[in-house]
Amino acid sequence: MEILVAGGAGYIGSHTCVALLKEGHRVVVADNLCNSKAETIHKIEQITNKKVVFYQIDVTKEEDIRPVFSKHQFDGVIHFAGLKAVGESVKEPLKYYYNNVLSTIMLARMCQEYKVNRFVFSSSATVYGENEIPFVETMNLLPTTNPYGETKVISERILMDMQKANPEFCVSLLRYFNPIGAHDSGLIGEMPNGIPNNLMPYITQVAKGKLNKLKVFGKDYPTVDGTGVRDYIHVMDLAEGHVLALEKLTKGVQIYNLGTGQGTSVLQLIRAFEEANHIQVPFEISERRPGDIAEFYADASKAERELEFTARRGILDMCRDAWRFEKNLG
Ligand code: NAD
Ligand code: WQD
Repeated sequence: MEILVAGGAGYIGSHTCVALLKEGHRVVVADNLCNSKAETIHKIEQITNKKVVFYQIDVTKEEDIRPVFSKHQFDGVIHFAGLKAVGESVKEPLKYYYNNVLSTIMLARMCQEYKVNRFVFSSSATVYGENEIPFVETMNLLPTTNPYGETKVISERILMDMQKANPEFCVSLLRYFNPIGAHDSGLIGEMPNGIPNNLMPYITQVAKGKLNKLKVFGKDYPTVDGTGVRDYIHVMDLAEGHVLALEKLTKGVQIYNLGTGQGTSVLQLIRAFEEANHIQVPFEISERRPGDIAEFYADASKAERELEFTARRGILDMCRDAWRFEKNLG
């Protein structure tokens, strides 16, 4: 298949391009590089020894994206092109609603016009809000407490309504849990701008000495050791999940959790990183971060049943691969 990967130069998108190319699909990336670099495209080509067609464009702009749909006959679209910093979305809500919702509308509209019937969307476990754990696809969604999360809820809704009006359209809404790690070549991985918001990139930068000390946000949660618990999934497992979702798309809307079903606490992740890489991660306990939930992880059984998707890589692999990438950054 020829697949348009919107946001394909980013963290999850670039790994998904590798997984798609490995399965024999052709890849066209549309990315405005607002949170990524063009060199990632070359790294994808280097890893796979295959060509990627790249357009540096903004997918919210019709004049940018229409010529790409005119030129290619896509079999499917994977939509990663979103902004993702939760804190920033609270400070600049309009930027988030504009980019994340409009990108979904524009790509869906192009699919409708150009009769591209396969659409895979990057959603997030954040849409569950503070629900009971484990999170199951059938749950009613609860408020997400930040504009970023709302853009995912709204985008899901838009795609569901669009599908209702276009019965040929096949949509997969993939709710990711916490992707970490990197491709085992060490060539591509997560490259946050400035000081990282998320745990794993913070850990790797502390291990490298770029940052002094990790702050563990809260040790009084009702969890195994008082620190926050998340369902970390290796980004290559997540990437492979996209290929399965795309290949197994059926008419209608399918919703899948992509997680491992296993919770890991902040302290457990620090210990695993130290064990996997034989390196210390200095940390101190600090205040809870506003908006954080104590614990969540996926019920991963639907993706396993229907997509035959299981995350193969464990926490130690995630830690090893994240560290290899950070070290390679020089
Ligand atoms: P990322 O920032 O690394 O990748 C997103 C890519 O999209 C970037 O390359 C960016 O330049 C591009 N982009 C953004 N807006 C664009 C636009 N209007 N036009 C063209 N390109 C645009 O983020 P990521 O971690 O790879 O996340 C990919 C998607 O998955 C996002 O939609 C994100 O919200 C979602 N998601 C991420 C996580 C996570 O923890 N990383 C979890 C759940 C969901
Ligand atoms: C994980 C755990 C923190 C940093 C976010 C988004 C979510 C999704 C994934 C896109 C928590 C703790 C963190 C630090 C810490 N993105 N922590 N010190 O918050 O689960 O999810 O990214 O959809 O929407 O909210 O991930 O990596 O920020 O935090 O102690 O310096 O690590 O409190 O328990 P989170 P995270």
